[in-house]
Amino acid sequence: MADLTTNFIGIKSPNPFWLASAPPTDKEYNVRRAYEAGWGGVVWKTLGSEGPPVVNVNGPRYGAIWGADRRLLGLNNIELITDRPLEVNLREIKQVKRDYPDRALVISLMVPCDEESWRAILKAIEDTGADGVELNFGCPHGMSERGMGSAVGQVPEYIEMVTRWVKQHSRMPCIVKLTPNITDVRKPAEAAKRGGADAVSLINTINSITSVNLDSFAPEPTIDGKGAHGGYCGPAVKPIALSMVSEIARNPETRGLPISGIGGVTTWRDAAEFMALGAGTVQVCTAAMTYGFKVVQEMISGLSQYLDEHQMSVGDLVGRAVPNVTDWNQLNLNYVTKAQIDQDLCIKCGRCYAACEDTSHQAIAMSDDRTFTVKDEDCVACNLCIDVCPVESCITMRQLGKGEVDPRTGKTVGDYANWTTHPNNPMAQAAE
Ligand SMILES: Cc1cc2nc3c(=O)[nH]c(=O)nc-3n(C[C@H](O)[C@H](O)[C@H](O)COP(=O)(O)O)c2cc1C
Ligand code: SF4
Ligand code: SF4
Repeated sequence: MADLTTNFIGIKSPNPFWLASAPPTDKEYNVRRAYEAGWGGVVWKTLGSEGPPVVNVNGPRYGAIWGADRRLLGLNNIELITDRPLEVNLREIKQVKRDYPDRALVISLMVPCDEESWRAILKAIEDTGADGVELNFGCPHGMSERGMGSAVGQVPEYIEMVTRWVKQHSRMPCIVKLTPNITDVRKPAEAAKRGGADAVSLINTINSITSVNLDSFAPEPTIDGKGAHGGYCGPAVKPIALSMVSEIARNPETRGLPISGIGGVTTWRDAAEFMALGAGTVQVCTAAMTYGFKVVQEMISGLSQYLDEHQMSVGDLVGRAVPNVTDWNQLNLNYVTKAQIDQDLCIKCGRCYAACEDTSHQAIAMSDDRTFTVKDEDCVACNLCIDVCPVESCITMRQLGKGEVDPRTGKTVGDYANWTTHPNNPMAQAAE
C-alpha cells in the first residue's frame, strides 16, 4: 500500500485528506470522530475574537442543487463562523491535539482587520499546541459585511498586510484561504506570498442564490420571507476550483507556493486531480456533510491503489499535470479528430443527432431505421455528441494521423502548429 504520509509546510499528517473548516470541524466531538474515521488532518471551524459569540440565523441555512437522481451536486450556506465561545474552542483544541499528535490540526481564524486583534488571537492559538493557522479571507456572507472574510480577500493589499502581521506575531505555519469571488485569483495569491504566507488554500465558497421560491418570491433558503446570498460549494464548484488552483500553480510569481486544494472533493479521483494540479493536500467539506466522515476511507484506499498501480509516490503526483496546463494559443491546431459511433453499443436514442444538428455542425446522419453515423466531412470534432450520449464509450474520437487528409478542410494533417504562427492570425509571429 502506497505511503500517503504528507508533510505540508512542516505540518505532518498520515494522509493528504484534511477536513475543511466548516460544521464537521466545529467541536471536539466531531474532530475526534473524524480522526478515528481516518482523516489525516482537520482545519477547525473558523474562530473569531474574544467577546460575545457570533449569532447565526435560526431558520434554514442551506440551499441545494440536485442531479436527476437527487444526488446533491451543489450546496449553498448562510452560516457564519463559529458561534461557540472562544475559550471553549481553545480548550477543546488543546485536548484534541494532545490526544492525536500525529494528525494535522490547523486553526482557521477571522478577526477584525487590526494588528492587535490578530496578535491576541495568535497568542491564544499558539498556547493550544495546534500545528498552524489558516486565515479565512474567503467567507462571502455575513462576516464580509463587517469588513472581514472575503472583504479582506478581495483586496490584495489587505491580504498582504494581515499575513505580514500573522508572520510577525507567530511562529506557526500560515495558510491563507482565498476567496473565488474575485476576477483574477493570482493577485490575492501573490499578495499572500508577499506577506510571507507559507501556503494558500482555495477555494472558499462562491457567492450564490440557489433558487427562488415562485410562490413567495424570495430566495431560498428563506428566512421569514427574505433570503440573502450564500456561499456555494460541493461537486458543482470543482471545475472552478481546479482552474484556480492551476492558475496559482503555473503563475511564475507564485510557482512553488504550497497549495491546499478545496472545492467539491468527493472521491479519491477528485483529490488526485487537485494534487496533479499542484495541491499538496486537499480539504473536504460537502462530501463529509453529505456522506459522513467515512468517505475518507474510499479516498485513502483509492489513492493508494492508484499510486501503486502507477508506481508513483504522493510527491510524484503533486504538480504532475501543471506543465500540461497551457493557454489556448499554445494548443496544437494540427491535432485533428473525428467522432465515431459504435453501432453495437448505440441504443438509437438520437440525442447525439439532435445536439449536433441543432448546435450547428449537422455532422450526424440519421437513416430511416435510426442508424446514426458521423459525416467526417462535416465533423469539427467538438465532442458534444459524446457529452450528451447516455451510453459510455458508445461514441469515441479517432485521431487522424500525420499525412492523412481531413475530409472537412481538405488539408493534410501536419506537425504541431498553434495560433501564434497561424496564417489567419494578423499578429502571427514568423515561424522560427
Ligand atoms: C456550512 C458551511 C460552513 C462553512 N464555514 C466555513 C468557515 O467557518 N470557515 C471557512 O474557512 N470555510 C467555511 N466553509 C467553506 C468550506 O471550508 C470549503 O471551503 C467549501 O465548502 C468548499 O469545499 P467543499 O466543496 O468540499 O464543500 C463552510 C462551508 C459550509 C458548507
Ligand atoms: S464531434 Fe461534434 S461535430 Fe462531430 S459529430 Fe459529434 S457533435 Fe457533431
Ligand atoms: S446518443 Fe449515443 S446511444 Fe444515442 S443515438 Fe447517439 S450514439 Fe446512439
